Amino acid sequence: MNAGPAIFQLGVPAFDGLPEKLFSRARSSNLLKTGTLTSLLYPDPRGEFELRREIAGHLSLARNFHCHPEQVFVTSGYSSGLGLALRVLGLDGRKVWMEEPGFMVTRRGLELARLNVVPVPVDGDGLNVDYGLERAADAALAVLTPGQQAPLGPTLSLRRRLQMLDWAASSGAWIIEDDYLGELQLQGRPAPAMASLGDGKRVIHIGSFSKTVSPALRLGFVVAPIELTNAFSEVAATLAPAPSPVVQLATAQFMREGHYIRRVRRLKRLYVAQRDGLCEQLRMYDAEWVNAGLAVLLRLPDGAPDVRIVREAMTVGMAPSPLSVWFANPSWTLPGLLLGVATAPEQHLAESCRKLFEIIDRYRS
Ligand SMILES: Cc1ncc(COP(=O)(O)O)c(C=O)c1O
Repeated sequence: MNAGPAIFQLGVPAFDGLPEKLFSRARSSNLLKTGTLTSLLYPDPRGEFELRREIAGHLSLARNFHCHPEQVFVTSGYSSGLGLALRVLGLDGRKVWMEEPGFMVTRRGLELARLNVVPVPVDGDGLNVDYGLERAADAALAVLTPGQQAPLGPTLSLRRRLQMLDWAASSGAWIIEDDYLGELQLQGRPAPAMASLGDGKRVIHIGSFSKTVSPALRLGFVVAPIELTNAFSEVAATLAPAPSPVVQLATAQFMREGHYIRRVRRLKRLYVAQRDGLCEQLRMYDAEWVNAGLAVLLRLPDGAPDVRIVREAMTVGMAPSPLSVWFANPSWTLPGLLLGVATAPEQHLAESCRKLFEIIDRYRS
């Protein structure tokens, strides 16, 4: 049996996990209706049309992003979407802007694709575009999380979005929008997808079901600019076909019947309550913290050994993420603990915070 997530673990949905009953019902009825399991044909490598249509419809409502199902490519989550996009773009040896701090999987993926990663700092308005333009205006690509920056949480401001789109249009660069949280935003109204701005020619949008349903589903999607759909189809057909149609069709039905939207709303309410509960606990300690997407960032004094603190916390069932490991440039690195709110059920908060601060106190000099 799989162990569940630890307290404060980032990147996984709440403990109540997969909506199993709904999902198995959707799955069996789909299999019977479509004859998926008895089909002898190869499925569409771009993904099942039913799911691509549901995704396009959902993006239009939830992200103000209007695209055709033909632009949607179903993938095994964000990482496989990134791999598909990088193969299509074929930018070996070119420079790429990457958020600093930023998602280590993206950074390593870009390195493995032989791109030359240029870290670009993040502030309260998201990626510092002026810095990127000053240091590497000749980059061929930027990969970023404009909706809610990972891991610090700010939304990329409209001014910077427009600045990036101008840069991409004038230099021929590409932008990959990692929209991993989609509309799962706890404060205010989610900003529209960056791909919805302008003519949509330079932005490749990547989404994932990992946070809204489960990472175990291994399901995500890419929305390609219309001009790139043939190139995406070719790579999908040869090197990166869509995952099993069984899971795709079950997910399509789950969305079509409204369960998906209801689930996202329910998760939002639960996470807001859990985050508020966590902040209430933190107020009892001598602590400085800020909201950071689906986490609360607990700041630590300069030089605090956040990795060692996390290692110790893991021995008692907690797994916050050390902020320092999200940085590539050692001279910019800041210590801190990212406490995931999805995995912070209210009944465990007081005890978990007590244990966590006991560990932190041991490392105070
Ligand atoms: C910044 C970022 N992008 C994407 C993802 C989702 O990746 P996947 O769809 O491969 O699970 C995550 C998950 O933690 C993430 O933090």
